Amino acid sequence: MRFSVTTSPIDKPKASLRAVALFHKRKLGVHGEILDQALEGRITGVIKAGESDGDAGSTLLIPAPAKGAAATVLVGLGPRKDFSRKSVRKACSALAKLLVERPADTATIAVDDLLPPDQGIGWLVHLLISAIGDAGYRFTTYKGKEEVKKVRLKTVILCVTEEQAPEAERACAEAEAILAGANHTRDLGNAPPNVIHPEALAEDARELARRYKKLKATVLDEKELKKLGAGAILAVGQGSERPPRLIALEYDGAGKDDAPIVLVGKGITFDTGGISLKPGQAMDEMKYDMCGAATVLGVMQAVAELKLPLNVIGVVTSAENMPDGRACRPGDIVTTLSGQTVEILNTDAEGRLVLCDALTWVERFKPKAVIDIATLTGACIIALGHEASAVLGNDDELVDALKQAGTDSHDRTWELPLWEEYQEQLKSNFADMANIGGRAAGTITAACFLSRFTKEYAWAHLDIAGVAWKSGKKKGATGRPVPLLMRYLLDQATH
Ligand code: BES
Ligand code: MN
Ligand code: ZN
Repeated sequence: MRFSVTTSPIDKPKASLRAVALFHKRKLGVHGEILDQALEGRITGVIKAGESDGDAGSTLLIPAPAKGAAATVLVGLGPRKDFSRKSVRKACSALAKLLVERPADTATIAVDDLLPPDQGIGWLVHLLISAIGDAGYRFTTYKGKEEVKKVRLKTVILCVTEEQAPEAERACAEAEAILAGANHTRDLGNAPPNVIHPEALAEDARELARRYKKLKATVLDEKELKKLGAGAILAVGQGSERPPRLIALEYDGAGKDDAPIVLVGKGITFDTGGISLKPGQAMDEMKYDMCGAATVLGVMQAVAELKLPLNVIGVVTSAENMPDGRACRPGDIVTTLSGQTVEILNTDAEGRLVLCDALTWVERFKPKAVIDIATLTGACIIALGHEASAVLGNDDELVDALKQAGTDSHDRTWELPLWEEYQEQLKSNFADMANIGGRAAGTITAACFLSRFTKEYAWAHLDIAGVAWKSGKKKGATGRPVPLLMRYLLDQATH
C-alpha cells in the first residue's frame, strides 16, 4: 500500500473510491461540496432521501454512476459541536475497514474535511495511515492461495489544502515508515516458534544492517555470552536446542559525541515456562513472548528508513525457555553479568533474567536513556487489559515523555509505582535476590527486579504483555508499541 498527499480537489485524481466527511444534520464539508457539484447533486440527493444521518463511525456508499467512474463514501462524523479526536478516530477506523473490503485499488480521501479545529494535520495523517494500514494487514505466509482474501487497495491519496501540505507530507513519510516497521514487528510475532528462534532474530538484525548502511549488527553467541559472564541469559537458554543470542543493532544518525538512546527487547522465542511448566491451554500464544524484541527490530527499521538525526541502539536479548534434562531448576542460583546472584524460584519468570544481563551489558554504550520493552507479566494484562502498556522507571522526565508519546500516538501507557517498599518482596534466603516476588503487584515486582540492574542510567520499562497481542478470533500480533516508541524518538529528534 502506498500513500501520498495532494492539494488538488478531490474529484481530480483518478480513483475508484472517494471519501468525504458528513456531519450531523447532513452537512457536507468543502470537498464534499466539490464532489457533489461534480456528481450533479447525487450526494445531496442521497442525503435528502434520508439514507445516512452522519453518525460518527457510520459510512454510506454511493455507487459509481457509471462503469470506470468512482464510488463515493460518506464518512459520518456526528454533530459538529462534538467534533473531536474521538469522533475522528471512530470515523477513520470505519473508513479504513470499508476501504480494505471494497474492490477499490485507488482511494482519495478529503482529509481536510476530517480535521478537528484543535488538531494539526500531521496528527490526522498519522491516524489515517495507521488505521488503514492496520485494517489492511494480513499474515498469509503459511496459507494456501484459495484461503487468502486479498486486499485490493494499493494507493491512497490524501487531499489537503495548500497550507496543510508541508506538514501533511512530512507526516505521510513518517507514518509510512512506522507502518512498515510495525508490520515487520507483526510478521515476526505471528511467525511460528519453529521458525523464529534466537538465531533467526539475529539473522533478522543482520538483514536490516545489510539493507540500511547506517545500521551495524553485532551478535554474541552462547560461547561469547559465557566468556562475558552473562549467567542469567545462559541459564534461561540452557534447556533449549536453540542457544541464546545477545544482539545489538547500532544506528548512527548524530555523530560520535551524541549519547545514544538504547532500546532493549525481550526475545523469548517460545516460553513454555521451563521446569515450572505453564498449563497447556493457549500455550501456542507464548510464541509472542519475543514481541519486545520484534518491536526493537521494527523501530530500528523505521529509524533507519527515516534517517532520524539521533543515535539509537536496539538490543535484543533472546533465548527459548524449554523444560529439559539440562534446563535450569527452581532453586538454582545464577551469577548475573552484574555480579549479583539470583535464586531462580520459578523458571517461568525468565524474561527478567534475560533482560537483567542485557541491561548491564548496555552500560558500555553510555546511554542517554534506556527503555526496555517486554511481554513480562500476565499480571499486566490483569491490571491494564489490552489498552495500555505499563510504564515504570527511575527517571520522571523519561517516563513522562513516554506517557506523552503514548497519548499523541494513541498507543498509550499507564504508569505504575516503583516504590522502594515493593523491593522487599524479592528477598531470597540464599542469594542477593529471588526472581519472583509473589502474587501481589506482579508487574511492579518484575520492574523492581530490573531496577537493580539499571542504576547507571535513566531507565524506563514497558510491559507490553497486554498490548502486543490479540487473543480470540482476531488472534495475532498488533505491532504495538512501535507507534509509541517512534513518536517518542521523533519528539527527541526535534528537541
Ligand atoms: N511471558 C510471560 C508473561 C506473559 C503471560 C505474557 C501471559 C503474555 C501473556 C512471563 O515470562 C511469565 O511467565 N511471567 C510469569 C511471572 C510469574 C512466574 C512471577 C507470570 O506472569 O505468570
Ligand atoms: Mn515465563
Ligand atoms: Zn516470558
